[in-house]
Amino acid sequence: MDHRFGTPYLVLYACLVNLIGCRGLPAKNHVPLFIFGDSLFDAGNNNYVDIPPSAQANYWPYGETFFKYPTGRFSDGRIIPDFIAEYANLPLIPPYLQPGSNKFIGGVNFAFGGSGALIETAQGYGINLRTQVSYFEEIEKLWRQMLGDAEAKKLISKAVYLISMGVNDYMVHFGTNSTVLESYSREEYVGMVIGNLTVEIKEIYKKGGRKFGFVNAGALDCTPAIGALEAGTRGPCNENATALIELHNAAFSNALQELESQLEGFKYATHDLYTSWSERIHNPTKYGSTACCGTGPYRGIPSCGGRKPVKEYQLCGNASEYVFFDSTHLTEKANQQLAELMWSGSPNITGPYNLKMLFDI
Ligand SMILES: *[C@@H]1O[C@H](CO)[C@@H](O)[C@H](O)[C@H]1NC(C)=O
Ligand SMILES: *[C@@H]1O[C@H](CO)[C@@H](O)[C@H](O)[C@H]1NC(C)=O
Ligand SMILES: *[C@@H]1O[C@H](CO)[C@@H](O)[C@H](O)[C@H]1NC(C)=O
Ligand SMILES: *[C@@H]1O[C@H](CO)[C@@H](O)[C@H](O)[C@H]1NC(C)=O
Ligand SMILES: *[C@@H]1O[C@H](CO)[C@@H](O)[C@H](O)[C@H]1NC(C)=O
Repeated sequence: MDHRFGTPYLVLYACLVNLIGCRGLPAKNHVPLFIFGDSLFDAGNNNYVDIPPSAQANYWPYGETFFKYPTGRFSDGRIIPDFIAEYANLPLIPPYLQPGSNKFIGGVNFAFGGSGALIETAQGYGINLRTQVSYFEEIEKLWRQMLGDAEAKKLISKAVYLISMGVNDYMVHFGTNSTVLESYSREEYVGMVIGNLTVEIKEIYKKGGRKFGFVNAGALDCTPAIGALEAGTRGPCNENATALIELHNAAFSNALQELESQLEGFKYATHDLYTSWSERIHNPTKYGSTACCGTGPYRGIPSCGGRKPVKEYQLCGNASEYVFFDSTHLTEKANQQLAELMWSGSPNITGPYNLKMLFDI
């Protein structure tokens, strides 16, 4: 793991103290962007670890639209953090595990596909929220060593912390033989997920983080994947998943209001991803609940790319006409629409702040 420390920090240091130019790096008074999360936000960390291809997106046709090669993003093109970085005049925020990255000054992306707030959720293949936050803590420490406490603190408190976490803790139990959801009441289980999320948000706050952007749990209760599992019975939705996601989102909203009242200076934007995403699935768009890439009913059998247990897959001609790229992940087109709502959406969909307001403070 040591390969990650060294060059990036030297470049950052040299740039900040004006030893070298900061060409290709963000302007001096930029607002850094730190990203934590799951596959919705993973810009390619999954590309740099030895895990089964079923948990990766580093092969064709992932990336076909924008990058023209697979980057590890679970989409045909850009993902939400890429658009947010663009709106904030930052370069693309590099994955933490990408070797030789020298742009940590603009922020870092720690998100990892499949991860959750509970340790068990991504055991063996994901990087859970606790570990992601511990990576951030290492960077905070190094920034203090290099820049001095005052300068590091200023950057850390100006930064925006973008978090997508929790929905995998529920979804990992659908379509498996897991007994976890039978050993706890729904309320207990949601309480564990929210409890862990809250601990980690407070951890970032303790290090000086003040401005947070969240998405609530998206509409993973109605995906091509669920449709393929339940083919012919209930359409592409699972009512148990819906119930868990609704409970989670209500509890998450309460938890954030509580944090705001407890923590001085804590400011946040929550995008109601569940609503904006479901609107895109259920509106009478032609391909709302069918994936662009996959096979079987709704193309919901996760075979996109032919590197999973089922090899056969179909690929649509134009991903922009679809909401879902593969059985559970969004197209660049959908990501862009959601990113715009996070950035500048009105309070009925992104509140109490939106991201633009947080970057401007
Ligand atoms: C989160 O949840 C797990 C249970 O999966 C627990 O062991 C862990 O200590 C919790 N706390 C944090 C901060 O991750
Ligand atoms: C679920 O259990 C059945 C029967 O015990 C087994 O054949 C199957 O492989 C299991 N599926 C998973 C995903 O573990
Ligand atoms: C919902 O959960 C119940 C209880 O575990 C189960 O009997 C039922 O089949 C589930 N429904 C769906 C749609 O998965
Ligand atoms: C793909 O579909 C979008 C949305 O319908 C359309 O604007 C675009 O022109 C199409 N692109 C191609 C290459 O057909
Ligand atoms: C939110 O308000 C805007 C106008 O400010 C409106 O166009 C939009 O339809 C509303 N969205 C929802 C989900 O109510």
